[in-house]
Amino acid sequence: MNAADIDACLDDRPADGVFRLRGKVFADAQLFALEQTHIFERTWAFLGIESQLRLPNDFLTTFIGKVPVLVARNAQGRLGAFLNLCRHKGALVARAEHGNKRFWVCPYHGWTYDTAGKNVLVKDQGAGAYPPDFAQLNHDLVPLARFDNYRGLLFGSLNPDVPPLGDFLGEIRPLIDLAMEQGPQGMEFVPGRIAYTYDANWKVQSDNGSDGYHLTSTHPSLMTVVERREAARHGNLEARQFDWRKRFTQSAGMFTFRHGHTAMWMNQGQPENKPIHKSIDEVRTRLGKLRADWMLKGRNLTIFPNLQIADSTSLLIRTFRPLAVNQTEMRVWCMAPIGEDPQVRTWRMRQFEDFFNVTGLATPDDTAMYESAQLGFGAQQMEWLQGYERGTTAIVQGPNDHARELGITPVASNEGPYKLQSEVCLHATYREWARLMKAGLGGTPAYPGSA
Ligand code: FES
Ligand SMILES: [Fe+2]
Repeated sequence: MNAADIDACLDDRPADGVFRLRGKVFADAQLFALEQTHIFERTWAFLGIESQLRLPNDFLTTFIGKVPVLVARNAQGRLGAFLNLCRHKGALVARAEHGNKRFWVCPYHGWTYDTAGKNVLVKDQGAGAYPPDFAQLNHDLVPLARFDNYRGLLFGSLNPDVPPLGDFLGEIRPLIDLAMEQGPQGMEFVPGRIAYTYDANWKVQSDNGSDGYHLTSTHPSLMTVVERREAARHGNLEARQFDWRKRFTQSAGMFTFRHGHTAMWMNQGQPENKPIHKSIDEVRTRLGKLRADWMLKGRNLTIFPNLQIADSTSLLIRTFRPLAVNQTEMRVWCMAPIGEDPQVRTWRMRQFEDFFNVTGLATPDDTAMYESAQLGFGAQQMEWLQGYERGTTAIVQGPNDHARELGITPVASNEGPYKLQSEVCLHATYREWARLMKAGLGGTPAYPGSA
């Protein structure tokens, strides 16, 4: 494969208002393998949130693409991130998803590491007749090339030549802040998480995170159930969800950002049906009216390549791990202000379960559609997917009034009635996808100037 093969995957002609993708972007195993090395292993990737690691020696495990990663707070309280790979023969050093341990003992041959990643024991080293060089080798866990924290969100990179995290996130940061500053003491995950796999490409979930267009056709049962139980006053009344049809009179829009990040927003109507509404006076006092008002809107962010923050019903963090070209693992957490009123917390959890759980009213519908689409992505007979052009004539280059009031400078903006249900923020995603793939194939830096 070469750059021309990547160019052939997209028909991107902004002057003509054309943006189309080939189905093979989601179905080609060679492209999938290249994404691992040229995207996941060369960009910043989301790892977890700081409040998952509150105590000395707390740890969590995750992946950057196919590479196992271990994030830990060491005995002195300092955060670090390492390859979760034993220096001896590569076994996973930490196998649990999270926990608290003073030492990680590799279960294969017993090499032992402290929570700063330092090797403190090579089992039976003295009797091992090792060559003289062996003692000179660095036996410690390999630290990630880059590791940093933005507002409690932890990111790592396997590539040292990435821009500083703040520059990588860039202008989307104030929108991240709207999620991470909802509580005066910061944010935490509600204990537990949902994890599942679906049989489709990782980018299908990436697309769906900013897809408002599918709501009325994929989720009519959700909308109807919510309406009926409110009318009849029975069923899961504790969830007190939105009446989704009330959104149709509202406005909505999107922003795109450098490095492939995107945001879509919508005025939701019924702001009182968001758990954060209960503490909005505190938010307004702390952060001002404008930001409090924006917290009451629906906002779906995609931080390229593997993080979504969705604040619609409840507030979630979603990260996806590509397992194969047609299989993806999702991990999804409900996020909440630290110290939240227990009754509000309960309500938040019921909303999250109602909509997002794998047993909820929305997620199974979405994954069924992902798997359905995946079945045909490999068909060469259908030339182009036409799902990236809604909203084209509403695109404003640079900021619109909403961006200006937030003080951000996106690459592009648009706004319209709710039913605009724009698809064009995905242009940023696939332009970045193509840019990184071509840089990788051409042997040039992913982020020129960052070396
Ligand atoms: S692989 Fe870890 S001790 Fe052998
Ligand atoms: Fe959906």
